Amino acid sequence: MPVYSFRLNGRSATVDSWDADQPVLYVLRGALGLHGPKFGCGLGQCGACTVLVDGQAVRSCTLPVSRAAGRAITTLEGLGTPEKPHRVQAAFIAEQAAQCGYCTNGMIIASVGLLARTPKPTLDQVRQGLAGNLCRCGTHTRILRAVMRAAQA
Ligand code: FES
Ligand code: FES
Repeated sequence: MPVYSFRLNGRSATVDSWDADQPVLYVLRGALGLHGPKFGCGLGQCGACTVLVDGQAVRSCTLPVSRAAGRAITTLEGLGTPEKPHRVQAAFIAEQAAQCGYCTNGMIIASVGLLARTPKPTLDQVRQGLAGNLCRCGTHTRILRAVMRAAQA
């Protein structure tokens, strides 16, 4: 069976798959047991499955496992720990920026990618940066506050 190797949250990871087009999301949640990335639409439209690939926010539901080979993937689990959360995670907690939490993975990962590109964004830049991440609970105001808080941290 073909084998694909990549960096995952700072460590080496190897998975085998008959299907070179198998979405990275399935590999992460299934074979590798990482449940931070969520399955929302499966079509690249909601952002719930977002991970960082070489530091860029990418939708893992539409990324074939063969295209992840040799790259560095970071999931929510790789950002921080409950004892030492990433500053974006800490800001989401401080602003209570979640209701059901389904979008939260994508919002946090997209925000980390955004702040890496634009460390001191305006509110408008944050709005634009997260425009493709959907929240069906209407938590947007708190999410925006959390990202602005993280940018000050
Ligand atoms: S589950 Fe990937 S974008 Fe919706
Ligand atoms: S908090 Fe429920 S989808 Fe965003």
